[in-house]
Amino acid sequence: MRYPHPKLRAENAVIDKFDDELKATAKEMLSIMYKDDGVGLAAPQVGVNKRLMVFNEEGDITKPQLEMILANPVIVGRSDVMALREEGCLSFPMINGKILRHEWIEIEYQNIGGERVSKRLEGFPARIFQHEYDHLDRVLFIDRFVDEDKALNKKRLEKYVKKYGADAAP
Ligand code: CO
Repeated sequence: MRYPHPKLRAENAVIDKFDDELKATAKEMLSIMYKDDGVGLAAPQVGVNKRLMVFNEEGDITKPQLEMILANPVIVGRSDVMALREEGCLSFPMINGKILRHEWIEIEYQNIGGERVSKRLEGFPARIFQHEYDHLDRVLFIDRFVDEDKALNKKRLEKYVKKYGADAAP
């Protein structure tokens, strides 16, 4: 789903069934992510309004050991130290901007089998997580751009709305 598709701003439901359908959704998300050369994807981006995200910090399909599938993720701790870096988003082709994110975070989530997991993420994986987590809370990366990049991308975003409309299909 490309911006400004309404599913990107819709409420995302807590996952309570860890069934084959959820596994299929996660698999599809990973395959779309690799096909589009991304490093992460959130379920609302494929039109599924559930609290599910996937990522692979190298975006490398030959390294499935780096694949993360996270259901109902939460952030339970975060660094005071922030890092500034440019990001892209598969729902916004051709748009990039710099965003401040926590350098490290402590998270809890459920894996695809529903088991609870705690983890600390640092550096790039922490950044990917925060970007995808925002999607689940209906926050888009353009909302967090530093002022300079908000201004730089304003015209392009207006073109998106014109081109794809409020109910844009992927
Ligand atoms: Co995104």
